[in-house]
Amino acid sequence: MASYLEVRDLNVRFATEDGVVRAVNDISFTVERGRTLGIVGESGSGKSVTSLAVLGLHDPRRTTISGEILVEGRNIVGLPEPELQRLRGRDVAMIFQDPLSALHPYYTIGRQISEGYRVHHAVSRRVARRRAVELLARVGIPQPDRRADQYPHEFSGGMRQRAMIAMALVNDPALLIADEPTTALDVTVQAQILDLLADLQREFGSAIILITHDLGVVRQVAHEVLVMYGGRAVEHGATQDVLHEPMHPYTLGLLQSMPTLDGDPEAHLVPIKGNPPSLINLPTGCAFHPRCPYATELSKVEVPALRMRKPGHYAACHLAELPS
Ligand SMILES: Nc1ncnc2c1ncn2[C@@H]1O[C@H](COP(=O)(O)OP(=O)(O)O)[C@@H](O)[C@H]1O
Ligand code: SF4
Ligand SMILES: [Mg+2]
Repeated sequence: MASYLEVRDLNVRFATEDGVVRAVNDISFTVERGRTLGIVGESGSGKSVTSLAVLGLHDPRRTTISGEILVEGRNIVGLPEPELQRLRGRDVAMIFQDPLSALHPYYTIGRQISEGYRVHHAVSRRVARRRAVELLARVGIPQPDRRADQYPHEFSGGMRQRAMIAMALVNDPALLIADEPTTALDVTVQAQILDLLADLQREFGSAIILITHDLGVVRQVAHEVLVMYGGRAVEHGATQDVLHEPMHPYTLGLLQSMPTLDGDPEAHLVPIKGNPPSLINLPTGCAFHPRCPYATELSKVEVPALRMRKPGHYAACHLAELPS
């Protein structure tokens, strides 16, 4: 069976006054219904640009996109805006990191969810409101009938994120893109929201792309993970394989800089030295070479291809294997 979403050789570039931003380079992945793909990488690695492309949200006047984004087999790259609008919110929905910037401050939560429903369904206000209340209940908001009449500022951070999820789910989207959905939340609420997403996925069978800079989040919910660095995929595979047997020095660096994968409180964290590269002026060869402890002369001149190392496990590195 074909994948719900298939992204093939996606490239996204922005023309800016400072030069061309090569934000996404030759990215390919698929997502099936009922499965979660985690896209992970430091800030500025091209994660959000990738997800916005899947929603057709880039301004075509300033952006050059090449490659294919197949939603149920249909390429949406270059589709006219009205067709993209029909897709957005109905087939593909987005949960943003910051609900306050995505929710309108002057409309009640219930109104915003029900209007999202009415864009794609010819129903009365009353029916749409019932749907909104039902979804608020489903995402775990107590007294949903009363809460529906409140404004975003009357909700706590965690409750606002739940309301955003309700809004994203109102049209039963087949694909949900969550861009750092829990970054602004404390750890307990973060875990609740991730549990909720996993529950909803079991219930609705949606495909999920979860974008995060946090491998801990990936471990909790993603079946598969794509690691991005400098706008490229550097490692890709089943979450278990990537986290337990990383094949790229950058992934290893991320793992060593994150608190206790195995719950060992004594383990000390080793941050990756240096900073993420500028996507206007990427380092030559492997973009990670200025920060990589294993860089060789070859690393400085030749971009390593993403190659399959084991079944379903890909890495882009000149090393045959990581030194242990
Ligand atoms: N509309 C835009 N115009 C120019 N540059 C952009 C635009 N959107 C994003 N970028 C740049 O693309 C790069 C990748 O950004 P982004 O995908 O948001 O990173 P992240 O991985 O943190 O989500 C960044 O260098 C960012 O500044
Ligand atoms: S190609 Fe070289 S610089 Fe890049 S990750 Fe591999 S060893 Fe490090
Ligand atoms: Mg981002």
